[in-house]
Amino acid sequence: MNNDVMKNKIFLETYGCQMNSYDSELVCSILAKANYALVPTEDEADVVLLNTCAIREHAHQKVYNRIHEIKRGHNPAGGGAGGHPVIVGILGCMATNLRTELLENRKFKIDFIAGPDSYKRLPQLIDEAAKTEVRGGEVRGKGEEVRKVFDITLSEFETYSDVYPRRERGVNAWLAVMRGCNNFCTFCVVPYTRGRERSRSVENVVEETRRLAGEGFRQVTLLGQNVNSYFCEGADFADLLEAVSAVEGIVRIRFTSPHPKDFPEKLLDVVARNPKVCKHIHLPVQSGNNRILELMDRTYTREEFLALTGKIRVQCPSIALTTDIIVGFPSERDEEFRDTVALMRDVEFDSAFIFKYSQRKGTIAARKYPDNVPESVKTERIVHLNEIQKAMSLKKNRAHIGAEYAILIEEEPSERFPEYIQGRTDGNKLVAIPKADHALGDFVQVRITGASANTLKGVAI
Ligand code: 5AD
Ligand code: SF4
Repeated sequence: MNNDVMKNKIFLETYGCQMNSYDSELVCSILAKANYALVPTEDEADVVLLNTCAIREHAHQKVYNRIHEIKRGHNPAGGGAGGHPVIVGILGCMATNLRTELLENRKFKIDFIAGPDSYKRLPQLIDEAAKTEVRGGEVRGKGEEVRKVFDITLSEFETYSDVYPRRERGVNAWLAVMRGCNNFCTFCVVPYTRGRERSRSVENVVEETRRLAGEGFRQVTLLGQNVNSYFCEGADFADLLEAVSAVEGIVRIRFTSPHPKDFPEKLLDVVARNPKVCKHIHLPVQSGNNRILELMDRTYTREEFLALTGKIRVQCPSIALTTDIIVGFPSERDEEFRDTVALMRDVEFDSAFIFKYSQRKGTIAARKYPDNVPESVKTERIVHLNEIQKAMSLKKNRAHIGAEYAILIEEEPSERFPEYIQGRTDGNKLVAIPKADHALGDFVQVRITGASANTLKGVAI
């Protein structure tokens, strides 16, 4: 189908979260099956696909800049591989969030867009865009009417269960077990960009895990916008973890992210007991203040969050806890921010991703609450929290000195430190050890000899 228009060289670039990385692997698989060839640089490409993220304004801006670059600077002759203009397609969360802005805006010159549930239609969309005389996502049909090339329909059922992703060889494989989100936290665009929650069957996830273990992957990270809402044919996320852990060849299982509102006892029990399930929980708290948590519609209180982390620590003392925090949510006052500071000190997270609130089009917060915390205040708050977390991470990392862990070697030596190789502990801490004859995928028993805020140093024992 694509041969008659000779636009079959694809360059794909991915932004955003691990779910988007996984989706890109699905896209590669779908396109390879339809005889498209993936090329390693945009200069060789007929079609450039950007798999985009919409979570914060910064993510948008990066993509807009790239579109300009691709359409102009990087292709001075205006051309893809055959000298014809390169086709630019926008995939992912920006596609569903900003359809009108993307297609109507003449400055951006996008040729087509496809939302996260439309990837099976990509070959048709590319083909249609390639036949377009008029750029900017328009097709002039017989009767002079203008058609846009896009598909952003969100599905209640699409899970891509029948597509086996094309992964680069490695140690860790991403695996989406559910898609979408039903939570509607007021700041978050995901329910709008990715639609309603839907889960894949246990058998289907286990089957994919067996296959990737057969390809040499040793760790699988189960993904979902809200993994503990996983539910399929009577099986919950704890059941799924147990089933996946039975797959031979897989030595470690990670998952991200659960929601603090519904972290069940049964799941905690599996994490604590099952030796393949890593002792690390990423538990986004977002704020330590009850009024702000309510405005965010997180449906838990600061006290409930503290009770949950307390219980987790009792049942699984070696657990590593990490989190996400938003500063400068609309109307957040200084004393309310200080509640977040206090919560961070109380919980002592192993690490934290801290973000400035960014108003997102279409969200409940964008409709109800003016983005009224000044940028300078957001900056002060994020700098303050980052300092606290850095000191905390350093303190926690130093406490590991002298301890022994099994690390799974996950990364090749870097150019800066070619004599070191890096692996992760069960608690997701990066440990650098002298390379010796260790290789990717090895499990190495190490003693920790040094620590910074971000990494540990160790020696094999
Ligand atoms: N502004 C800032 N941060 C956000 N996040 C999600 N939406 C927004 C927003 N509008 C953060 C949350 C979430 C993480 C993935 O991104 O902390 O947990
Ligand atoms: Fe970004 Fe959220 Fe979409 Fe992931 S799901 S790409 S974080 S907007």
